[in-house]
Amino acid sequence: MRVCSLANSQPQPESAKQTMGALRVVLALFVSLLSVANVVYAVGPPAPPKPPQVPAGHWVDTWVSMPQLTEPANLPPPPFNQTNLVFHNSTIRQTIHTSIGGDQIRLRISNVFGGSDLPITAVTIALPANGAAGTSAIQTNTLQTVTFSGNSSVVIPNGALVVSDPLTFTVKPQSMLAVTLFTAQGQTTNSITSHPGSRTTSWFSFGNSVSAANLTDATSVAHWYFLSALEVWAPKNVGALAIVGDSITDGRGSTDNTNNRWPDLVLAKMQANPATRNIAVVNQAAGGNRILADGLGPNALGRIDRDVLAQSGVKYAMIFEGVNDIGTAPATPDAQQAIGDRVIWSLKQIATRVHTMGIPIFAATITPFSGDPTIQPYSSPVREATRVRVNDFIKNSGTFDAVVDFDKILADPANPSQLNPKFDSGDFLHPNPAGYQAVADAFPLDIFNIVSPKNNFS
Ligand SMILES: *[C@@H]1O[C@H](CO)[C@@H](O)[C@H](O)[C@H]1NC(C)=O
Ligand SMILES: *[C@@H]1O[C@H](CO)[C@@H](O)[C@H](O)[C@H]1NC(C)=O
Ligand SMILES: *[C@@H]1O[C@H](CO)[C@@H](O)[C@H](O)[C@H]1NC(C)=O
Ligand SMILES: *[C@@H]1O[C@H](CO)[C@@H](O)[C@H](O)[C@H]1NC(C)=O
Repeated sequence: MRVCSLANSQPQPESAKQTMGALRVVLALFVSLLSVANVVYAVGPPAPPKPPQVPAGHWVDTWVSMPQLTEPANLPPPPFNQTNLVFHNSTIRQTIHTSIGGDQIRLRISNVFGGSDLPITAVTIALPANGAAGTSAIQTNTLQTVTFSGNSSVVIPNGALVVSDPLTFTVKPQSMLAVTLFTAQGQTTNSITSHPGSRTTSWFSFGNSVSAANLTDATSVAHWYFLSALEVWAPKNVGALAIVGDSITDGRGSTDNTNNRWPDLVLAKMQANPATRNIAVVNQAAGGNRILADGLGPNALGRIDRDVLAQSGVKYAMIFEGVNDIGTAPATPDAQQAIGDRVIWSLKQIATRVHTMGIPIFAATITPFSGDPTIQPYSSPVREATRVRVNDFIKNSGTFDAVVDFDKILADPANPSQLNPKFDSGDFLHPNPAGYQAVADAFPLDIFNIVSPKNNFS
């Protein structure tokens, strides 16, 4: 069945597709012959088909958004949201930001949290007008229809995702792509999959406008719905860094439609450096996310499989979490001893899981959250002690292949339990754009010299 798996996993030129079509017919005949009992071969079994010539390479994520169950307030506004019916007869146009470029792309659409089938009637891609983030207009001369195993309409079962057929479409590194979906029926539930913290404007309108130059009378929100990854076909030496994080990585405190979350700014630095230009940066973060408990998105220990191990072309992983576990546990010595112990234990588990796949994992230290407790409810000396204890583990245990000391970068040197005031967005927890830039400026690029984990058998 080598032929089938090649057909499903690699892009091919048109002539190869025709060859593949012929091969599939031959193979189908062969399989149906085999399935008939007492077959007598007159001329012997057919020769094994030759695999098509394809460029050596693999699929690598260039962009992701972590799928979440949409909270009621983050569903689209009415009339796109009704009881048990979301996005009926609706076009949804969304823009996404690539990290690395490529000439062949595939799109992943997720219905992982859907309470029902997700019927998608049509999907297109195009470059957005002026290459802009969060715009409702596209460059129509770049428009292409997206298909899924040959079908332009698909019904995605709840819990599932679909991957598109390869499209010959050139995307540049650090550039925007517009994806437009139309669903005639809509999804018959209020449980739908989205990524609320898009920091990017998405547009909706009624009727099928997947090919329209602009959406007129459109409604907008800063959330992404259903899209979960864009992959590029890339040489084998290209890979992705998958970052598991919470709101600080999701970009709370950054600027909408500007792509200045810290991973975007680290990407810009990596793209300017020849040795790291072949590494995609994919942001698997969600606001409020915790390592040990569900809430805004599944817990990190539970989603490491989906968001790192099952992603395309992941060569490095990174974790920057724990603040919401510490911050939502009671500020008592017993509760903080327990949550600190469990956070440390779960970080070991995550490193072991990632190492098992031969992937190095980096960690960032947890950044400060002390300050005015009427503004920042996490603030407490008992929780601060847990943060210091977990950071000591992250830095000194040898669990991780590299550690980036975000705490040191962002803390106030005069008062290390607090964010440096010049990097504080105002809530004593989330950095501002200057803070995100400081993380990128200090981010060491030599950690990518590690290509296999030092701790493979941990
Ligand atoms: C969408 O509709 C559901 C069900 O009626 C409701 O619970 C939710 O608050 C609505 N959300 C918005 C943003 O309208
Ligand atoms: C593929 O598309 C055809 C025509 O639109 C439709 O009848 C069929 O049900 C689709 N198949 C799947 C698996 O969605
Ligand atoms: C879908 O919306 C378009 C635009 O408002 C409208 O013309 C069309 O009648 C609607 N179709 C259905 C089935 O509601
Ligand atoms: C798209 O339409 C919106 C709203 O009608 C308008 O503000 C915007 O300028 C249009 N964009 C382009 C590129 O035409």
